[in-house]
Amino acid sequence: MNLELTGQVAVIVGGANGMGRMISKTFAEEGAHVAVIDRDASVEDVAREVAAHGVRTLAEQVDVTDFEALKETAARVEDELGPVRHVVFTVGIDSGKGGFPFWNLEPSDWPLVHNVNVLGAVNTAHAFYAPMIARRQGTFCFFSSVAGQIGSQTDPPYSVSKAAVLSFMQIAAKDFAPYNIRANAICPGMVDTPLQRRIHKFSTANLPEDERPTYEEWYTEKIGRLAVLGELTSPEEIAATVVFLASDLARTVTGQAVNVDSGWVMHW
Ligand SMILES: NC(=O)c1ccc[n+]([C@@H]2O[C@H](COP(=O)([O-])OP(=O)(O)OC[C@H]3O[C@@H](n4cnc5c(N)ncnc54)[C@H](O)[C@@H]3O)[C@@H](O)[C@H]2O)c1
Repeated sequence: MNLELTGQVAVIVGGANGMGRMISKTFAEEGAHVAVIDRDASVEDVAREVAAHGVRTLAEQVDVTDFEALKETAARVEDELGPVRHVVFTVGIDSGKGGFPFWNLEPSDWPLVHNVNVLGAVNTAHAFYAPMIARRQGTFCFFSSVAGQIGSQTDPPYSVSKAAVLSFMQIAAKDFAPYNIRANAICPGMVDTPLQRRIHKFSTANLPEDERPTYEEWYTEKIGRLAVLGELTSPEEIAATVVFLASDLARTVTGQAVNVDSGWVMHW
């Protein structure tokens, strides 16, 4: 299937690790030029992997809570790579604490998660939207989670932030529609990434050591219990969905929370 992304410019915010890294490489495989943005220095490694596909690339180390830095980065991407067509915001952090019940956490555990996960998405949209609406062309893809739809107790600040991302995505989809720009959100279930390994650590930290499941035992039991297909989703499978949504094959898909979750959450 030809997605016809060749020569288009894609920006992956959160592209240094996990799903963002795979999404950066997948856009490059499809012939897109790729800007890799993250606070982590490994943006440089990902940019090298991207460049191996013969496309142009740019690596920028930026914290998404810093709006001024994001605006400067957006201008640099337009200058050096060309007109931005696709913006993918994969950044997401957890609170680092098991939240069940929510009063195991302090109110002070909430602001950082919301600054990064929600305001980071808002900052990114503000930094990149202006030339895109002037050209009347483009897509945004945000990252939410099944946790934002089901009142997941695992990490309350995280779950609430992911619900907020969905609301912002829907608002953006409505605001952008007259400019021929689409906005959607991916809602992964369980994907093997550094973030998932952190969740395993804090979710099992309170168990006695001899009862603590290994990472593999923990995710196999959890996904088997919660999702009808009972399988982890791979970063490759997430990336395939993201590039499909960016392509014109998804021309009429906007404002959607796309669950890629082994059949965990079902709505109609
Ligand atoms: N892994 C899962 O199973 C899972 C499930 C549901 C939703 N998600 C969501 O999917 C997205 C991708 O998750 P992942 O598992 O690949 O995460 P990850 O932790 O592997 O990668 C997230 C990236 O965001 C970057 N980042 C964090 N804070 C930042 C900041 N302030 N500024 C710039 N960059 C920052 C990190 O450096 C990292 O490269 C996240 O939004 C996450 O919440 C993940």
